[in-house]
Amino acid sequence: MKVNGKEYRTIWMEGSSVFMIEQNLLPFEFKIFESEDYLTTCHSIKTMMVRGAGAIGAAAGFAMAQAFLKAPKNGFENFIEKAKQEIEATRPTARNLFYAVERVFEAGKISIQNAQHEAQNIADEDAAASQAIGDFGNELIKPGFRIQTHCNAGWLAFVDFGTALSPIYKAHHSGKNIFVWVDETRPRSQGARLTAWELFNEGVPHQIVPDNAGAWLMSAGKVDMMIVGADRIAANGDTANKIGTFEKAIVAKNFGIPFYIAAPTSTFDLDCKSGNDIIIEERSDDEVLFQTGPDDNGIIRKIRVASPGSSAINPAFDVTPADFITGIITEKGIIAPDKKEILSLF
Ligand code: MRU
Repeated sequence: MKVNGKEYRTIWMEGSSVFMIEQNLLPFEFKIFESEDYLTTCHSIKTMMVRGAGAIGAAAGFAMAQAFLKAPKNGFENFIEKAKQEIEATRPTARNLFYAVERVFEAGKISIQNAQHEAQNIADEDAAASQAIGDFGNELIKPGFRIQTHCNAGWLAFVDFGTALSPIYKAHHSGKNIFVWVDETRPRSQGARLTAWELFNEGVPHQIVPDNAGAWLMSAGKVDMMIVGADRIAANGDTANKIGTFEKAIVAKNFGIPFYIAAPTSTFDLDCKSGNDIIIEERSDDEVLFQTGPDDNGIIRKIRVASPGSSAINPAFDVTPADFITGIITEKGIIAPDKKEILSLF
């Protein structure tokens, strides 16, 4: 994706360093962060400097490669085993993280160079899958469609292009005259901050929607379809995605609006029989009680936006049952959210 006329990936590795767009500063500041070792990369995943299923998958793969590069000759295996556990402990829900760590861990059994090579393959495959998802998803979009999306499943959430936003970019660039409703996506506001910033950069017409306005919007006939991403998809099609997705899916079904998931095959977890097996990350209630943004002088400040005497809950994801999903757009084609079609992908 281009920012200020220059082509960027969300995350990449050069030598032993991992470089990433510092997403916590967006949309107010565009900055590249350099992580020189796997523990710093772990910290950047935990703090959501890098976030979104594909991007944290790539980050985790690169972190595993960094661990191989750093491992001492004495105690090599223990070091690698411990690093694997530390990387896997950063965020529990996105399947891509575990998928990438496992692949690089196995590749490193042959050589350190092989681990680096595998981490790069994962990043390249992620970008290619997102491109293909864009092509398949674009076929669903008719001229003039008003599409609603939740959270950010754009290029920032992947290595490039994105999933839910990839068909939107393709449709826009093929002149379909589309419009995008961007769910704000509290508490971290990935929609209002990141998706809106991406769409603005790409010149896609859009507006931000308060999280609680979805039913009003859909009941008024202002939405033609909804496309969202996924963090983990169970073998029966139940899908974990950013908190609030399930609510939107219920409303979409109520009004007969097609509700699509866009995700690469690396997000499917056949070991999860249903959504009940998916671990939902719970994050600090600070994210609900406080907001950050620039003051009048452009200095980023954190301010409390809730009653000082109260605490909050902060589940980061929810699971949308397969019954509420019209179809899943993958890099291999569009499938129904059922076990038979999911198994046919592998
Ligand atoms: O907590 P995040 O920002 O890493 O979560 C990302 C999401 O849940 C997005 O909704 C996205 O659709 C899935 S990742 C592409």
